[in-house]
Amino acid sequence: MAQVFVTRRLAGTALDRLAAAGHAVTVHPGDLPPTAGELAAGVATADGLLCLLTERIDAAVIDAAPRLRAIANYAVGSDNIDVAAAATRGIAVGVTPGVLTDATADLTLALLLSAARRLPDAQRSVTDGAWTTWEPRAWLGLELRGARLAVVGFGRIGQAVAERATAFGMEVEPVRRGDDLHAALARADAVTLHCPLTPDTHHLIDAAALGAMKPTAILVNTARGGIVDQVALAAALRAGGIAAAALDVTDPEPSPPDDPLLTAPNLIVLPHIGSATVAARERMADMAVDNLLAALAGEPMPHPARPAH
Ligand code: DGY
Repeated sequence: MAQVFVTRRLAGTALDRLAAAGHAVTVHPGDLPPTAGELAAGVATADGLLCLLTERIDAAVIDAAPRLRAIANYAVGSDNIDVAAAATRGIAVGVTPGVLTDATADLTLALLLSAARRLPDAQRSVTDGAWTTWEPRAWLGLELRGARLAVVGFGRIGQAVAERATAFGMEVEPVRRGDDLHAALARADAVTLHCPLTPDTHHLIDAAALGAMKPTAILVNTARGGIVDQVALAAALRAGGIAAAALDVTDPEPSPPDDPLLTAPNLIVLPHIGSATVAARERMADMAVDNLLAALAGEPMPHPARPAH
């Protein structure tokens, strides 16, 4: 029997399979992430850890877990985990690829459409009572058909976004590592980010990248907040350097209430809900449990994290 520490209650019944396999499962109570002390206490006797992207599993946490053999991240990304530190201890790290692709791609299109058609401001004009009549020149936005979408990062989610954007009649330009990012940004009417957060992609969208974009262009980010330099983004929105930004992710999450980004014009910000469908969240739990069950049985995880680089 192994001890498994789970850092939050999950959707669905996947955790029952850990108990059914004879493992002792401790679930951190409440809706907030464990504090550093609670996390250290939780992993102190754990053989397996099921954690969320809100937990930073760094070398110190790994050191505090002498028995740990398996870390199952409840996320497709693994940027919250020091995968190299885990590897030096022989701890397997798993992620949940594929099952949140459609949910995240759907949300990306929702954000793109919301920004392109200025939905938040238009809705506010109705609920604030400011809307007076059908207006021929108001709320004019970007038509997707014929518009060029730069998809930065062309993995599973980037390709699923491209498929949807193509159905809307957009011209899709995949932007892969090694491509001329700034040239692609300069051609695009909208830019959507789908690369992982790594030291190479941290602040990939900085002041120079934003400066390369058209003043009419829209930036969408459903990947990781750290890919965008938010100080530069706030400045670009305020100066009209780009037309709008629609973010599902920020750095940090949540943003502090006094973050100047939050008062920038033409900005949509969501609370990281890309994978928030019933189906995706239940499948993520299933995959995380599959990863744990395999590793605790001494087998390779079916969905391992990519090696650290
Ligand atoms: C992930 O799995 O990495 C997502 O960001 C969670 O929605």
